[in-house]
Amino acid sequence: MKIKNRVVEDLVFKSYLEEIMRKKKYLKMNRYIQHGNTTCLLHSIAVAYFSYRLCKFLKLKVREKELIRGALLHDYFLYDWHAKYRPTKDIGLHGRIHPTIALFNARRDYEVNQIEADIIKKHMFPLTFTPPKYKESIIVCLVDKFCGIYEVFSKKAYFEMAEHLADTKKNRRIIAKRINLYN
Ligand SMILES: [Fe+2]
Ligand SMILES: [Fe+2]
Repeated sequence: MKIKNRVVEDLVFKSYLEEIMRKKKYLKMNRYIQHGNTTCLLHSIAVAYFSYRLCKFLKLKVREKELIRGALLHDYFLYDWHAKYRPTKDIGLHGRIHPTIALFNARRDYEVNQIEADIIKKHMFPLTFTPPKYKESIIVCLVDKFCGIYEVFSKKAYFEMAEHLADTKKNRRIIAKRINLYN
């Protein structure tokens, strides 16, 4: 019964992931490194997946759609933040400004509701000063930090998660190939 639940839960996650990934622009995140050798795309998927799994594990009642979509878009800033001459260099510290840029991009390319917006805008708290308003935002804010630390120290971060999510032919094509998981 437990295994069956997990399969159904993962199908829910994958349906939201595929919906977001339908926009080619989203896959641009695959070009940029977040931490270590993990791309922004894989980082975002991991933050969304582990936020979702944490809620399931703790049996927390959350708005799953918003949790997953907000987490998938939380780092949708679309530039190389390690580059010396990145476009936002003069605006401010990447850690502080990228949530605003990610939210701008997310609103331009998707329908973003207020919970999803809060997740994106507040995920860098306490570096950005306003605390998350919803429990979904708090969860993503916490999981993002753990994921970031893990990525710095792992050479093949999320390999198992990626294999797990790319478990059908269609998903393998969408997730594995486009994310270049097996490079
Ligand atoms: Fe971020
Ligand atoms: Fe992040």
